Amino acid sequence: MAETLVFDAAGFVAEQVAAVKKQVGSRTAVIAVSGGVDSTIAAAIVHTAIGKQLHAVYVDTGFMRKGESEAVEAMYKRMGLNLTVVHAGPEYFEALGSTTEPEAKRKIIGEKFIRIFERESKKTGATVLVQGTIAPDWIESGGGKRDTIKSHHNVGGLPKDMKLELCEPLYHLYKDEVRAVARHLKVEVAERQPFPGPGLAVRVIGNLTPERVQLAREACDVVEREIEAAVAAGKMAKPWQYFAVLTNTPSVGVQGDLRAYGETVAVRAIDSLDAMTGTAVHVPYEVLGRIARGITNHPKMKDKVNRVVYDITDKPPATVEWE
Ligand code: XMP
Repeated sequence: MAETLVFDAAGFVAEQVAAVKKQVGSRTAVIAVSGGVDSTIAAAIVHTAIGKQLHAVYVDTGFMRKGESEAVEAMYKRMGLNLTVVHAGPEYFEALGSTTEPEAKRKIIGEKFIRIFERESKKTGATVLVQGTIAPDWIESGGGKRDTIKSHHNVGGLPKDMKLELCEPLYHLYKDEVRAVARHLKVEVAERQPFPGPGLAVRVIGNLTPERVQLAREACDVVEREIEAAVAAGKMAKPWQYFAVLTNTPSVGVQGDLRAYGETVAVRAIDSLDAMTGTAVHVPYEVLGRIARGITNHPKMKDKVNRVVYDITDKPPATVEWE
């Protein structure tokens, strides 16, 4: 009879805590925490192993969701992490300039991440960089015989001359296993939807300006609020991930009696277990209608966005994010 393999979260944590203690010893480590499940759980494991020797750095890249930086900061303070918050938005926009090619954007964002950590680590004397890298990140980033689907910022974006030693306690885990660890550790991000490291930057196709990122931020907020309201009302099951993309597809519309030429927002809701494959979710039409009106009537978006479409593509052939 075939045996079912059950992931042992408690065993995994004990093993990794011991491994981190051994690797880091009396040195100081620094971690980039994003508020997402992966980096938060990596931080929780390493914090358990080495306590205050771990310095957590939260970089507000300018690509975070609405209210995210404030909420994340409060959460890490509650966890007792040694936390530094870096407001790096202007630095990111300057580094990206007019770059629009997705892989180039990811590389620039990845490099900036590392440079900021190098800068911060110098202040703390850290020689170890902890990352929340999980299996799909390095599998999809290519290398060896694998094709590069997209360079996840924490893999393909790493500069060759990086000076810090890497410590990646979640390296072999899939997303569902990371969530099991989060539940085991009773870390409050456990049920939160995943958010990509490069943030809204990969949800804004074309020119990355603070104004366009702000549109994506507001549109994502509408999608989250409407879907979560529909879930709470029992109209649909909670999708694995749900967000909006500013597609860089201008289209003609009408506002009052006037012709308008505005942006198109795509709504994406997808179910997945391990991020490697996914299925577009059947969001009820009524909910999609509320999202479309919520975006096009929104005071901060109505003059800029005049069309909302729904992305019905599975992964593969599409990926979850558009870039
Ligand atoms: P894709 O778009 O590759 O997304 O199908 C799979 C899952 O990974 C997230 N994602 C990222 N996460 N760094 C991350 O930490 C990244 O560069 C990155 N790109 C995509 C995506 O949101 C989805 O959950």
